[in-house]
Amino acid sequence: MVNLKGRCFLTLKDYSKEEIEYLVDLAIDLKNKKKNGIFERHLEHKNIALIFEKPSTRTRCSFTIGCIDEGAHPEYLGIDDIQLGHKETVQDTARVLGRFFDGIEFRGFSQKTVEALAEYSGVPVWNGLTDEDHPTQILADFMTIKEHFGTSENKKLVYLGDGRNNMANALMIGCSKMGIDFTIGSPAYLFPTQEIIDTCAEFAKKSGSKIEITEDPYEAVKGADIIYTDVWVSMGEEAKSAERMAILRPYQVNDDIMAATGKDTTIFLHCLPAVRGNEVTNEVIEGPQSLVFDEAENRMHTIKAVMVATAGN
Ligand code: CP
Ligand code: NVA
Repeated sequence: MVNLKGRCFLTLKDYSKEEIEYLVDLAIDLKNKKKNGIFERHLEHKNIALIFEKPSTRTRCSFTIGCIDEGAHPEYLGIDDIQLGHKETVQDTARVLGRFFDGIEFRGFSQKTVEALAEYSGVPVWNGLTDEDHPTQILADFMTIKEHFGTSENKKLVYLGDGRNNMANALMIGCSKMGIDFTIGSPAYLFPTQEIIDTCAEFAKKSGSKIEITEDPYEAVKGADIIYTDVWVSMGEEAKSAERMAILRPYQVNDDIMAATGKDTTIFLHCLPAVRGNEVTNEVIEGPQSLVFDEAENRMHTIKAVMVATAGN
């Protein structure tokens, strides 16, 4: 029996396959209930802090609506609204917020900040994206895969693009935990770090998933059930824009790449926001294989599931 009460959600490295499946199934249940007008108010009387150092549409709205649907009060704290890291240490802010709030979401630059919030606040802390990781996104991706295929067993997910950003890391962690075969197609210059490859290789040994990293995008997508991409320039990396445009063009997800899977059942996923014409063509993102808006909606249900499971009454 899975019990996640009081747990933080900083990275899927800390979660087992069984726990990830539990969160996805809880999200599916909460989605059904919401569609049927059933709200069980699992977070009644809770106060939830939402700290954002970087902008957000989906993550911010998911936490806000997840709180309100479940009876909690969400408090948005933009980075210019609070003292975090400017006038006081992260540790002091964490200790103060822990006295006021029942859970804290953090989106920002450093994974160390979300880890410090978790260590010092004494309440569940949830990672809403850092430079290194984006674990709540992966739950929505797995939920979308489960809704579409009925299972994630025997699936191959291929990620094309910037192989060392938060999405590439988070997908590699999630897939290697779940037993999903995972391939990155990316220029060698943007291959994931050896540290994350080694960590995921250990998870893959246990789950049976196969991890491959290649420079050849056409080789990468052979047999793919899911093709995934993300922006070429992540938040905070704007100075690298020209360089990324120059080296990532061959990794664009377009009709040729979709056809190169050799399957007509392949789906397309993207965490969004997307830059059409860069990492994905308009034809693919608007095409019949694209599930990106189901995926975006599922952010709300999965984030709600994380809050309910870890901080619910
Ligand atoms: N996918 C995602 O995290 O979107 P936002 O940046 O809009 O939150
Ligand atoms: N890699 C992207 C993900 C956005 C959800 C970024 O960090 O900007």
